[in-house]
Amino acid sequence: MDRQWWKESVVYQIYPRSFMDSDGDGIGDLPGMTSKLDYLKTLGVDVIWLSPVYDSPNDDNGYDIRDYRAILPEFGTMADWETFLREAHARGIKLIMDLVVNHSSDEHAWFVESSASKISAKRDYYIWKPGKDGAEPNNWVSVFGGSAWKHDERTDEYFLHLFSRKQPDLNWNNPVLRKEVYDMMTWWLDKGIDGFRMDVINYISKDEAYPDAPSHSESRFQWGGQYFADGPRIHEFLQEMNREVLSKYDCMTVGEMPGVQPEEAALYTAPERGEVNMVFQFEHMDLDSGNGKWDVRPWHLKALKEVTYKWQHSLNGRGWNSLYMNNHDQPRMVSRFGDDGEYRVLSAKMLATFLHMQQGTPYIYQGEEIGMTNVRFPSIADYRDIETLNYYREAMEGGADEAAVLRSIHAKGRDNARTPFQWDDSPNGGFTTGAPWLAINPNYGTVNAAEAVADPDSIFHYYRKLIELRKKHDIIVYGDFDMLDWDHPEVLAYTRSLDGRKLLIALNFYGGEPEWNPPADAVGSEAELLIGNYREPGTRSKLSSGIRLKPYEALVYLL
Ligand code: NOJ
Repeated sequence: MDRQWWKESVVYQIYPRSFMDSDGDGIGDLPGMTSKLDYLKTLGVDVIWLSPVYDSPNDDNGYDIRDYRAILPEFGTMADWETFLREAHARGIKLIMDLVVNHSSDEHAWFVESSASKISAKRDYYIWKPGKDGAEPNNWVSVFGGSAWKHDERTDEYFLHLFSRKQPDLNWNNPVLRKEVYDMMTWWLDKGIDGFRMDVINYISKDEAYPDAPSHSESRFQWGGQYFADGPRIHEFLQEMNREVLSKYDCMTVGEMPGVQPEEAALYTAPERGEVNMVFQFEHMDLDSGNGKWDVRPWHLKALKEVTYKWQHSLNGRGWNSLYMNNHDQPRMVSRFGDDGEYRVLSAKMLATFLHMQQGTPYIYQGEEIGMTNVRFPSIADYRDIETLNYYREAMEGGADEAAVLRSIHAKGRDNARTPFQWDDSPNGGFTTGAPWLAINPNYGTVNAAEAVADPDSIFHYYRKLIELRKKHDIIVYGDFDMLDWDHPEVLAYTRSLDGRKLLIALNFYGGEPEWNPPADAVGSEAELLIGNYREPGTRSKLSSGIRLKPYEALVYLL
C-alpha cells in the first residue's frame, strides 16, 4: 500500500467566475472565494483546484491565458490571490492551480512576437505551417468547431489551434518553450501552491507529419485526435517536466486527458515513471453521446458498470484514479445520471456514494455538494459558453431545428455547470448584488447552501460524512475493487477489500424498488452500515438476502 496524501484527499473545484462575487460586478472573484473558505472547511475538503484566474481576454473564460504570471483584474489582484492561498493554508486546505499550456491566448506576448514575422525569435513557440493547395495544412477540426488552422495574413502561414482561434497551440517540440513553461511552474510552486491540474495535457505532442484525419462524415473538417492525443513525445515531455519541476516539490498533479485509455493511463500514473499522479479520463462522460457530445443518447447502467470496472481494475496497484462526474465542462451529475425532480436529494446522495466509495481521489465540483441541477434557458441569447454558441451557430447554418439544438444544449451545454453558485434564497442566490454574468438557475429558492447547511439531512451533510469516513477507513482509500451483479438492471453494486475486511456498496440507480441480494459469502455476516441515504448509519445487523431497496437508495456496509 503506497500511502500518499493526495490519495487520501478530497478535492473541491472552484470555477472562479461563478463562485462568489464580492464587489457587485456580477463576476465571482478572489475576495469572494476567500470569504467562503470557512464553508469549504465545514465541508471538510483537503484541496482546492482553482480553474484559471490568470490574465486573459476570456475567449474561453480564462482557458486562454494572456499572462501566466498575472491575475485577471476582474478576479482581483495578486495580493488577493496571496490572501486566498494564505487563508486556505491556515485552514489546512491545499491549493492546486490550473496549468493551461497546450495553448495560450493569441494575445500572449509570445504569440504577438511569434506572429509578427517568419524570422521572429519566438516564431517556433507556436505551430506554423504553409497552406496546402491554397487551403489549410490539413483537415483537422477544432474542438470548438471549424478548421483547427487559422490563416495569418501577415506571414501567409497558418497556425494550429485545437480549441478556439484565440487559443493557438504551443509548440512543445521547442526546448526553449518547454523551459519557459517549467520556469513559470516553478515560479508558482515557489509562491506556495500545492500542485497543478493540467489542461488537455495529453494533447501537447503532435505527430510532426500533420497527416489528414480519416473522414467519418461529410464534413470538410475531421477529428484528428489520433495524431495528437497521447502523441509521440508525450511521455518524454511529462517525464522532463517532472524531473525539472515537480519532483522538487511535495505537490500533486492531475492531467486532463480526453480519450485516454487505461493502458496509457497506467503509464502516465505509474509512480516509478515520474509523470503525473492521476488523470481525468472521459469514458464515463461519453456514455450519453452518439456521434459527438451534442448527439444525446440515453446512457445504460451496464455500460457504466463496464467503464467503472475497467478503470478501477486496470489502475489498481499500477497507477491511480481520479473520481468525478462533474466539472465546469460537464452538465450537472444529478440531472444527467440521477433525477433532478422528485428524487433530487436522494439521487445526488446515491451518486456521491458511487464516486466516493471507489478507489481513487474524489473531486467535487462547486454546487455538486448542494445538488445543483442543469438549467434550461429558453433562448440562445441566455448562453455565454463559446462551445455552446459555436455549436448553435454551426447547427443553425446547417439547417437544424432550433428546438432540437436547444434540447441538446439543455442536456449537454457547459453553462449548465457555470450558472452562479446558489448561496441562499436572496436575489441572485446571494452570489452577487449586481447583474450576474450568466443568469442564476431559477431553482435557487429551494436549492441553496444556506438551506443545505441548516438541514442535517441535506446533500451537503452527506458529503461531509463521506469525507469524514474516508479519513477513518483506509479501505475506502486503498481497498481493491470488484464489481458485483453485472446483470442487475437497476442496481450497481461493488466491493472493496483490504486486509481481510470488506466494504459492500449497493446503489439503486433508478426510482423503482428492486430486490438486491448481497453476495452469498456475505449473507449471514455481521455488517455495520457506514452510511446510507435512508437507513440510520452505525447500526449493526446480520446481512440477509433479498434486500428491498428504496428509490435511489445507497447502502455501504462494512463487513
Ligand atoms: C479543457 C477545459 O476544461 C475547458 O474548459 C477548456 O475549454 C479546454 N480544455 C481548452 O482549454
